[in-house]
Amino acid sequence: MTSMATMGTTLLETQKLSKSFGGLAAVQGVDFRVEQGQIVSVIGPNGAGKSTFFNVVTGLYRPTSGRVFLDGRDITGKRPDAVLKQGIARTFQNIRLFANMSVLENVLVGEHARLRSGILGDIIKGPHTRREERAARERAYRVMDLFGPRLTDSSNTLARNLAYADRRYLEIARALASQPKVLLLDEPTVGMNPSETEEAMRYIAQLQRSGVTVVLIEHKLNVVMSMSDRIYVLDYGQNIAEGTPAEVRSDERVIEAYLGRRHSTAMAAGLATSIAEQPAAASSGQ
Ligand SMILES: Nc1ncnc2c1ncn2[C@@H]1O[C@H](COP(=O)(O)OP(=O)(O)OP(=O)(O)O)[C@@H](O)[C@H]1O
Ligand SMILES: [Mg+2]
Repeated sequence: MTSMATMGTTLLETQKLSKSFGGLAAVQGVDFRVEQGQIVSVIGPNGAGKSTFFNVVTGLYRPTSGRVFLDGRDITGKRPDAVLKQGIARTFQNIRLFANMSVLENVLVGEHARLRSGILGDIIKGPHTRREERAARERAYRVMDLFGPRLTDSSNTLARNLAYADRRYLEIARALASQPKVLLLDEPTVGMNPSETEEAMRYIAQLQRSGVTVVLIEHKLNVVMSMSDRIYVLDYGQNIAEGTPAEVRSDERVIEAYLGRRHSTAMAAGLATSIAEQPAAASSGQ
């Protein structure tokens, strides 16, 4: 979690952000804020609008209304490549990698997304570009290193031949390679078994310690509760609750959203257990 020293600077903010698909209001008037260095999670039942929220923030969709600010700058309606250049990188709920490129190449693509020389440099390859290339590789290895030996040991392996969890890590590494101000992760542990999930959470916590600001969509609530500085809860596109893990866990509307209408969802997501196992006293430190 964030130390007091790094808190206080708002990095990413949305004001009354909305996105409708025809008559369906997938995201409705969401006010959202992430401070520098925090891990903030977005939770909510299936179809609540979590991925749509990311899609609007990153420019994949234009908002129906509302605004998005990064570092105080209005980036509303900018296209995905421009949003990435401004400093918001993301991963997707369904992994998107260049399957027939190596691990290293995928990470280098992530760097090129933000750096200048790119394609022209590949064609010319003068001494200056070769130096840049070496520097780019070194940066890529530093990013891959954040995931222990998992990526560095497989740097020449094609992405499609990686183990599932490693493909997830590679997607995060590629996003990080663009040196974002904030990293948006859409269900990074989906499909992972419990021990892989635990490992992934350790890596994500480590990213935070190295100064990366993270927004996390995650269904596994034990994970969310243990590592988030703040949590936003979406239900039917609306932000029904917001606060520390302890606050959100005991919020009537959250319990209703998970337990009332959709009891089985809550059980599957682990909210019921996390409520049962962690009474107010145990969670006061979060
Ligand atoms: N491109 C689209 N066109 C039409 N409807 C969409 C589109 N994208 C999302 N929706 C709808 O918007 C609502 C929110 O979807 P979204 O994918 O954002 O939910 P989510 O919270 O990410 O759910 P999950 O936890 O299952 O990933 C859903 O009703 C979905 O069907
Ligand atoms: Mg989603």
